[in-house]
Amino acid sequence: LEEYSFGRRAWLYKYRGFVFPNLFLDKIRNIHTFDVREDDVWVITFPKSGTTWVQEIVYLLMNDLDTEKALKLNIDIRFPYFEFVEPGLQAIAEMPSPRLIKSHLPFSILPNQMKNKRPKIIYIVRNPKDIVVSYYSFAIKFLKMVPFNGSFEDYCQLFVSDKVDYGPWWKHVSEAWNRRDDDNVLFLVYEDLHLDTGKHVREIANFLGKPVSDEQVDMIVKHCSFESMKQNNSVNYEWMKDAGIANKEVQFMRQGKVGDWKNHLSTEIVRQLDDMVTTKLPPDLSEQIKDS
Ligand code: A3P
Repeated sequence: LEEYSFGRRAWLYKYRGFVFPNLFLDKIRNIHTFDVREDDVWVITFPKSGTTWVQEIVYLLMNDLDTEKALKLNIDIRFPYFEFVEPGLQAIAEMPSPRLIKSHLPFSILPNQMKNKRPKIIYIVRNPKDIVVSYYSFAIKFLKMVPFNGSFEDYCQLFVSDKVDYGPWWKHVSEAWNRRDDDNVLFLVYEDLHLDTGKHVREIANFLGKPVSDEQVDMIVKHCSFESMKQNNSVNYEWMKDAGIANKEVQFMRQGKVGDWKNHLSTEIVRQLDDMVTTKLPPDLSEQIKDS
């Protein structure tokens, strides 16, 4: 994808119709043959769709609402990023059950055993207009290691022409949507979580087989509110700044809003993203995409 990469030469590759950085493709064979367990819980998303928010909710539900432990231990240790370099597939393979695993891989590129072991999978979809703003802020401004010499508009063009990491977005979400009725899959919408977080905490709890009281729901909603997570160093990725891999003046916990794209996107990009939603998604999925 060199000609589209704005300095990201040798970073992005296409595999089975999706775009990935080379560091994931290097271990693709190990991804496919990874041993899945029936009692794993996987949170899977296209990046910037509310992954961290749902991870924290799932963590509390699976750990007797132990907020003290959640505040103490970094989320990447409690709930590792499957295909990333740290902690790596070997370390995840050795974790005690029940494992909590985050991944941005699309359904068609997950380990082969997902089909037979049928672990619980929670997928979250978010409207692509807020995603592109959030993705640019994270991948280009927050992270230091991704070379990119284009503008925000260039980045938006990459997104609409399906050339950002893990894209095409529409293909990623469509694959998950097609599996939404599987009994081991829970399909959530970021914007719905905003509207009524408590309702969805309860839905996630029931899906995980961890029923909660009204009081417990309130406690989880409070611990996982945007304002609270922004201040919480175990989930706000401030550690990346200390490690020298993220820029101090940019926040991972940026806005946490629905519709902030209105302050950033050009009319032309809005038109192209609207087009993507109406022409590339199955009609019943298009109806789920809420961007204001
Ligand atoms: P913004 O950049 O629009 O603020 P991910 O975890 O998949 O990387 O997604 C990050 C996005 O989710 C960011 O969006 C972030 O602010 C938002 N987010 C994180 N925690 C949230 C929370 N508790 N409530 C609402 N949004 C949250």
